[in-house]
Amino acid sequence: MGLKGVILAGGLGKRLFPLTKITNKHLLPIYCKPMIYYPLQTLVDAGIKDILIVTGGRHAGEFLRLLGNGAEFGLKHINYTYQEGEGGIAEALRLAEHFADNDRIVVILGDNIIEKDIKGPVEEFKKQPKGAKILIKKVEDPERFGVVALRKNRIVAIEEKPKRPKSDYIVTGIYLYDNQVFDIIKALKPSRRGELEITDVNNAYLKKGELTYSILDGWWTDSGTFDSLLKASNLVAKSEAKRANCI
Ligand code: G1P
Repeated sequence: MGLKGVILAGGLGKRLFPLTKITNKHLLPIYCKPMIYYPLQTLVDAGIKDILIVTGGRHAGEFLRLLGNGAEFGLKHINYTYQEGEGGIAEALRLAEHFADNDRIVVILGDNIIEKDIKGPVEEFKKQPKGAKILIKKVEDPERFGVVALRKNRIVAIEEKPKRPKSDYIVTGIYLYDNQVFDIIKALKPSRRGELEITDVNNAYLKKGELTYSILDGWWTDSGTFDSLLKASNLVAKSEAKRANCI
């Protein structure tokens, strides 16, 4: 069974304005590399060679100029697609249906930077008969994210950016899905902010009893706000393994 990778790198990066006025968020620097290099490396390190980048906005062409066919990452080819407008993460993922072609996918948000690798959860997911797996992580500011409510080590609900988080565990932007994901997305209704939410996708799998999770090993951060962008650079600068990739 094939496992393909999808990097979601669209959006307008409004929270980083004016840094994102003349470029895409995922092209901004994180220490010594453009942001998109990190999720791409995460997929490559997990043994995934068939990769789609979903981007959008006014600077989409720059991804092709930067990454080309991915030779720097040992890839032969990279697939690209374009998201019109601003419909949310799940809407962006919907554009991967043709690419996935019934295979399972590992989805990573283009602003998620991790210390280690996801080989363990990827191998576990390959053995999982069907459904989805999310990677969760304990953080100090859960209200900024999708938060998991846990009961006896089982996820009972996921709430997107709740005012009163039910735990310190959040859903990172790394998701493993079987091919039901596209039918789930088609059945979604836009949230109050008018977007198709990835949290609703995960809750749909939860409702079917087909959602598993792993706790991500090593540090994790997003990098879509001024503070998290700075934090990501500092974490990479301090990590010997990550610095080793700086030439
Ligand atoms: C998105 C998801 C959220 C998740 C986060 C991880 O939030 O909606 O559930 O916890 O990514 O980075 P956003 O970055 O769009 O605010």
